[in-house]
Amino acid sequence: MSEEKDNVPDSKEPFMFFDTSHLRTDEIFLRLERTSEADPEKRKAPSYHFNICRVSDGLEIGMIDFRVGNTQETFFDGNIGYFLFPSQRGNHYSGKACLLLFNLARMHNMNYLYITCSPDNYASRRTCEWAGGKLEAIIELPTDADMYWRGERQKCLYFFNLVPDKVTAGEKPFTYRQVGISSFFLKGDICWTPSPHTLETVENGFLLCSDGKSGGVFREIPETHAHLPVISHSRMLIIPGLTDLHVHAPQFAMRALGMDMELLEWLNKNAFPEEAKYAEIEYAKKAYGHFVRHVKRGPNTRLCVFSTLHVPGTLLLMDLLEESGLVSLVGKVNMDRNCPDYLREGDGAAATMEWLETFYKCRGEGRYKNTSPIITPRFIPSCTDELLKKLAEIQKKHALPLQSHLSENPEEIKWVKELWPNSKNYANAYEMAGLLEGPTVMAHCVWSDESEMDILAEKGVYVVHCPQSNMNLSSGIAPVRRFLERGIPVGLGSDVAGGAHTSIFRAISDAIQVSKLRRDGKALTLEEAFYMGSAGGGAFFAKAVGGTEAGAAGSFEPGWDFDAVVIDDSEFASPVRRNLRERLERVVYLSDDRHVKAKYVRGISIL
Ligand code: GUN
Ligand code: FE
Repeated sequence: MSEEKDNVPDSKEPFMFFDTSHLRTDEIFLRLERTSEADPEKRKAPSYHFNICRVSDGLEIGMIDFRVGNTQETFFDGNIGYFLFPSQRGNHYSGKACLLLFNLARMHNMNYLYITCSPDNYASRRTCEWAGGKLEAIIELPTDADMYWRGERQKCLYFFNLVPDKVTAGEKPFTYRQVGISSFFLKGDICWTPSPHTLETVENGFLLCSDGKSGGVFREIPETHAHLPVISHSRMLIIPGLTDLHVHAPQFAMRALGMDMELLEWLNKNAFPEEAKYAEIEYAKKAYGHFVRHVKRGPNTRLCVFSTLHVPGTLLLMDLLEESGLVSLVGKVNMDRNCPDYLREGDGAAATMEWLETFYKCRGEGRYKNTSPIITPRFIPSCTDELLKKLAEIQKKHALPLQSHLSENPEEIKWVKELWPNSKNYANAYEMAGLLEGPTVMAHCVWSDESEMDILAEKGVYVVHCPQSNMNLSSGIAPVRRFLERGIPVGLGSDVAGGAHTSIFRAISDAIQVSKLRRDGKALTLEEAFYMGSAGGGAFFAKAVGGTEAGAAGSFEPGWDFDAVVIDDSEFASPVRRNLRERLERVVYLSDDRHVKAKYVRGISIL
């Protein structure tokens, strides 16, 4: 079990206790009784021990301790422990004393802390909630914890965020919280698809997170891991995080509008005017904030995102995504022709370099561990040949992945043929421009024929199937069965705002439904569609270079990144007992964000 690094006082600096005489309100003050030094052998954090006293008469009304930093001890015992004499209860004195200690914690550079209590200690739970805590989990204590031998079996873990939830372009976002341990088990009803043809299910099983990676799924806790904590989500479904492999963040604010148009008219009338607004950083801050908060609440843990052509807005989106704890590839959009003057780049290559240079400078300072750039020519019609060529050079130089649109709409395809008359097909135009040489995702591929599929297969291009968008914009139904037969990797995308819903559950059910309407082969199964929405798209993150620390997600096979989503499906209970496959199917079709109870990305709890 490793200890959390960011939030522990720097061991190179001698630890200093601060003066605490200012810790008072109009009603109470904290009188320092003693301090105790850290004891690394016993895993004890440096601590302050206070009496809580009443201001009016100096009467001692309780006690409160504060343990500094985040270690295994503070994870199970919490950073703050308090006791109030019974006669003094009911005035929120403990809560008010906690608020005073939050100031002290900030002086020690702590971004967050935990308070723990027994699940049946309702007074303490009310105090935590009054003081702004969020119940993160009810954890089962490991057998080697002191408290276990004192008879306790479970602890409520309350999380307190100590820094304001605010980021502006270019500012360093606070390090999002990290559970103070990086290895643990999740207990619950676990489902995942190791292949498109298999759904593995373990009821009441244990999913091991080992330093941010999946360590596999167990029916019983192995002896060798008996010391690890178990976070209990009993009776809930635990599934891998889903990946939205194609989404336009700036179109989120206009989703579910103009759904009676086809692609090119919709771009001109709806998408372009909306995207132009992101020149204004204040607008971008609001709208991207809505988008990121919304996605964070849902079942997706990874995104491959288009922003707009604007550099500051794109960096802001990257900041917000990084702060959220989600993993993302973000593309500054390139477009320098066949677009309105108000949304056209002068020198798209120079703007791309400006964006990348800022990004790499920030990454050099330790930022963007979960966020990486992806080269993003909007599509062939909106980029001059010269820009495409320069983007290919930039992509190669920085070993970056690339995303774009391919063969979405018949009018668009005809247009590409006019613009690139010597190309064999649309994919070949990208190929001729040198843009299929790195890890590539292409959205839609609705009209790809066998010769286009030859190129996709040869270049290892990931196809993003976006069924809802393809319905809304009357684009058609992609030949997904054929992609699978040909071994072309397929993930799922919301394509917001072509699609109106960000949740990849919706893309999974839509993919199954539209596949039935093609009537030219076997419709997609739940296993196949779930696989595409989880491991299928999530595997691109292993391919996608660009220096992100993240790896592939979407499966619980050992070695995959630990992205897990906990779903409370008790609302869908029926008189008949359902097996896990049935429960998963109903969650895919029926659930929404309210059913997402916890979410872990690379082993870190982010909800
Ligand atoms: N092709 C080029 N731009 C877009 C876009 O914003 N959405 C969709 N669905 N297709 C595109
Ligand atoms: Fe799109």
